[in-house]
Amino acid sequence: MLKGKHILVGISGGIAAYKIPELIRSLVKSGAEVRVATTKNALEFVTELTLQTVSGSRVYSDVFAAINDHSTEHISLPDWCDAMIVAPATANVLGKMAAGIADDALTTTICSCTARKPIVIAPAMNDKMWESPATQHAVQTIKGWANVQVIEPASGPLACGTEGKGRMPEIEVLQEALEYALAEKSLAGKRILITAGGTREAIDPVRFVSNHSTGKMGVALAHSCARRGAEVTIVCGAMSAPIVNPFGMIRRIDALSAQEMYEVCRKEWPETDTAILCAAVADFTPAEPAGEKIKKQPGQTEMNLRMVVTPDIARTLGESKKATQKLIGFALETHDEKKNALLKLERKRMDAIVLNSLRDEGAGFGTDTNRVTILSANGNSIELPLQSKSDIADKIIEAVII
Ligand code: PMT
Repeated sequence: MLKGKHILVGISGGIAAYKIPELIRSLVKSGAEVRVATTKNALEFVTELTLQTVSGSRVYSDVFAAINDHSTEHISLPDWCDAMIVAPATANVLGKMAAGIADDALTTTICSCTARKPIVIAPAMNDKMWESPATQHAVQTIKGWANVQVIEPASGPLACGTEGKGRMPEIEVLQEALEYALAEKSLAGKRILITAGGTREAIDPVRFVSNHSTGKMGVALAHSCARRGAEVTIVCGAMSAPIVNPFGMIRRIDALSAQEMYEVCRKEWPETDTAILCAAVADFTPAEPAGEKIKKQPGQTEMNLRMVVTPDIARTLGESKKATQKLIGFALETHDEKKNALLKLERKRMDAIVLNSLRDEGAGFGTDTNRVTILSANGNSIELPLQSKSDIADKIIEAVII
């Protein structure tokens, strides 16, 4: 989503400024073009040369510099950008923003941007400065402005040696906030239920049966829906993929076993517009999980585990589906891919099923990429070549929900 976008990065004078070159690198890596505006104090924490090198562009920090364009940067930079991010935003800059004070390169640029372009503000400062009534008043004022999104600072150890709220969120959170700011809110008002990860079926208190799902595909879908303004509930099995949630659009519910996931999904379904079942749910679970660790007996050469069928979440949702609801499933196959996926689509009364095959390199479990075919109940079929799970998620959402 950031590919080809013009991003204006504003930096004010806080210690967290030293992290911003990493943000710029990450934005450039995602295909964005970046320009930078700073306060003079910001350049005490991060050098102009570093910012210039990572952004590939001259840094705007002095309103009266002889080399400035005739068009005056504080107007032309907001004209040029698709979105702006101010990180870190100090108490001083927040106060100036709220009061409409524009007295340097950064604040004049912000002032001429706020009415026209999406702006993400990432406050970062000492916890006592964050708690100050003046800072809180400024933040509340800014939060009320149409184009502005404020990311709450994180809690944890602060540069001054204390602990508290005031840390700048991680780079991924800042980047996700920009993705959110840039996306059209085509799913506003929609409630989307997503399952992700693999279930764990207990054999005894220390062992389980599971699969290789990392949750990457499900999380990419959750991010894609949240950016478009949906209220997202993600039901998570065992998974390692991090959920990045700058504005709290994603509600997470953990449900480790197939039975737990089934109960959560059944409860959530009546209030859901679209369910996307991406989790790799066990079809079988140990019939009688042991209460204590199973011990190997002397001379024992084998162990038989009796398994019983788990509840089928997709089928249950499909059976009670209303005309206004959509049910999208996934199928991970190793052979007869299309035939097997179409059988599931029909049996589980899905509106569409997303087929991925373990025979395709770079597709399926654990990879950052996927290659899928979307098979719809109306007979339509869309093949998506190998690309990032994030891009695949966007295309699935565009094809089956919007
Ligand atoms: O998490 P990643 O590492 O990124 O990997 C992504 C993925 C490979 C897990 C994902 O792309 C995927 O294919 N998910 C579905 C995997 C699967 O187990 O599909 P299935 O063919 O077994 O099940 C078909 C559908 O029924 C799925 O929507 C599944 O969620 C659902 N199901 C299955 C069993 C069950 N008891 N209840 C269900 O609802």
